[in-house]
Order: sequence, then structure tokens, then C-alpha cells
Amino acid sequence: MKEISMHILDIVMNSIKAEASLIELFIEDSIKNNWLKIVIKDNGIGMTDEMVKQVTDPFFTTRTTRRVGLGIPMLKENCEMCNGYLKIKSVLHEGTTIECCFERDNIDRVPLGNMGDTIITIINSLKNCELLYKHSTDGNSFTLSTEEIRFILDGGSINENAVLIWIKEYVNENIESILNI
Ligand SMILES: Nc1ncnc2c1ncn2[C@@H]1O[C@H](COP(=O)(O)OP(=O)(O)OP(=O)(O)O)[C@@H](O)[C@H]1O
Ligand SMILES: [Mg+2]
Repeated sequence: MKEISMHILDIVMNSIKAEASLIELFIEDSIKNNWLKIVIKDNGIGMTDEMVKQVTDPFFTTRTTRRVGLGIPMLKENCEMCNGYLKIKSVLHEGTTIECCFERDNIDRVPLGNMGDTIITIINSLKNCELLYKHSTDGNSFTLSTEEIRFILDGGSINENAVLIWIKEYVNENIESILNI
């Protein structure tokens, strides 16, 4: 089974395809509540109510190259297998929010995976779009904003190798430190 970060990548790719200019990713890793909650919010093209209903059905996709869209149904199945849920809220021309949750200590819950790698993969796929990522544990959190990084770089490219390596380390070190406090 996939690591959770691979699912996150899938869902964020949907937001990029939906021409979002801002994607917000919130991860809440709570031992106290015994959940791992993920919220992905975009301001892309959105979906009709009918699409939202169909989207968890693996035989529905707007892609013409392949009949079967699996990103959302697979994530939903994995959440439900771990006593969790997946909810979609979407408004046409306004955007989409996907919230999903895993029971943290469930035997079937796969690891989060490498978020540093996932974030730089996302950044390399962004076009005219910013990512705001917030990761929290019970008492601590950190955020990463591509808009802020671009501002600091003052015209330099966020896709430079040195910058991406820095971002990857920033993410992985922060996740480790907020877990250990
Ligand atoms: N954030 C979003 N904004 C607008 N439409 C979306 C969004 N996420 C999903 N959709 C719609 O829901 C469909 C199903 O998404 P899903 O990720 O399950 O499959 P897919 O992207 O079509 O294929 P796959 O993920 O397997 O490559 C998409 O084809 C798209 O039409
Ligand atoms: Mg998809």
C-alpha cells in the first residue's frame, strides 16, 4: 500500500490540474486525538455537486486518456480501512477542499512517508501557483510558504537545486523536531 505522502501528492496534482493559484496543505498529526488529518484546499475550477458525488467512484474521471480515476477513491478506501473518512467540499469556479483522516495507531495505517521529497516534487510541478503548507502536532507546528520563499529569493528561482535541497531539509528537520518536543 502507498505511503500517505504519495496520496497527498496525488491530491495536490488534482489541484494543480484544476488551475489553482493557491494550494493549502494542512497536516495534523495528533497523538492526543489519535488521528492523522490531512486537508488540501485549492482555489481551482471546482466541481459540480454531481461530480463530487461521482468522484469517489473509481469509474468516473474527466480524463480522456484513461477511463479510471483512482486518486481519490484509493485514498478514501485507505482512510476508511483505518477507521477514518474522506470528505470533499467543492464549488464550481471557486475551489475544492478535501479533508481526510486516518486513525493514527490503526494497524493498517501506513507511514506518512518523506514529506521533504513530496514538497519539492510539488514545488517542481507548480505553475503560477503557490503552496502554503502547515504541519502540526499536539503542541507545535511549522509552516512553509512558497510565496514567502520567492519573496526572500528576490527574483531567484525556487526550482534551483540548492533551494530545493534546503526546502527538503527544512521540512524533514521541522517534522522531526515538532514530533520530539
Ligand atoms: N481539486 C480538484 N478540482 C477540480 N476537480 C477535481 C479536483 N480533484 C479531482 N477533481 C476531478 O475528479 C476527478 C477524479 O480525480 P482522481 O484523482 O480520483 O482521478 P484522476 O485525477 O482523474 O486520475 P488519477 O488520479 O488516477 O491519475 C478528476 O479527473 C477531476 O475531474
Ligand atoms: Mg488524480
